[in-house]
Amino acid sequence: MQIISISSLKGGVGKTSVTLGLASAAQARGIPTLVVDMDPHADATTGLGVRQDVGTEDVGTLLSHPRRVSLAEHVVPSGWPDTRPGGTAEADAGTGGVGSAPRALDVARGSSRTSLFERPTTRPRELRRLSQLLESVTRYALVLVDCPPALNGVTRMAWAASTDVLLVAEPSLFSVAGTERTLRALDLFRREYAQGVRSTGVVANRVRPASTEHQFRLGEMDRMYGDRLLPVAIPEQGNWQQIQGAAWPVHAWPGETAARSAALFDELLAAVHRPLKDRRSQRRH
Ligand SMILES: Nc1ncnc2c1ncn2[C@@H]1O[C@H](COP(=O)(O)OP(=O)(O)OP(=O)(O)O)[C@@H](O)[C@H]1O
Ligand SMILES: [Mg+2]
Repeated sequence: MQIISISSLKGGVGKTSVTLGLASAAQARGIPTLVVDMDPHADATTGLGVRQDVGTEDVGTLLSHPRRVSLAEHVVPSGWPDTRPGGTAEADAGTGGVGSAPRALDVARGSSRTSLFERPTTRPRELRRLSQLLESVTRYALVLVDCPPALNGVTRMAWAASTDVLLVAEPSLFSVAGTERTLRALDLFRREYAQGVRSTGVVANRVRPASTEHQFRLGEMDRMYGDRLLPVAIPEQGNWQQIQGAAWPVHAWPGETAARSAALFDELLAAVHRPLKDRRSQRRH
């Protein structure tokens, strides 16, 4: 099971948007995926169309006693249409039937209770809470963990449970510098507490291709991050707030612009999601 934390030191750079884009791409490919919403604001939960009154426990509550609960009993299906061939999206459009395959996209819903774990800590008992919770889920090939914008307890707990960390950065001076600090903090943390992390990457988001400043910052990111900078950069998208506001997957949104966004997230998923055998042979960097 590949567990990818989507993190940044800075707020508002697009962690949740990248999480939702990757979830949409994974669902369209039929990859059994779980989104774990670790942000106390629970934006990913909202964006995935999951309500808070679904009758299961939120991840913050489960983290309080991770050994005594089964996360598998508390995950809920996303509220998105199923974009797999034969899924509900096609059924709604009258082009196919609802597939009989098990659902592809589940959510461990977030809530403000995760803020209880936002204290800075290096105590192994605290850092292991999410890993212990994830031990009870086995049916997913991919777990996407949407982190809050800080390197405190929750993000550290997510890193300690992860096989990969994806940092999101905007091509601006402060974000580039913040990401560099985050990479250094991550390297130190990996050595001591997160030895399961195999790879770390950076994805540039909200890129305006016509902006000279953005092109300059992208060049700087290339020099600073080397092969950690992923080959896919996500441009500023005019209709994202509308798609996210509708709690809809980009792969099911009509129009050319959404189709281009969906294709970019397919590429990003291909860059970060590797079958287990490839990850075993991948060199650490
Ligand atoms: N590539 C993009 N194009 C257009 N809008 C974007 C893009 N990426 C993010 N946004 C918008 O920017 C805002 C912040 O994005 P998002 O919530 O994904 O950031 P975040 O890093 O998760 O924030 P936080 O730190 O608060 O959790 C949202 O309104 C989102 O729709
Ligand atoms: Mg967010």
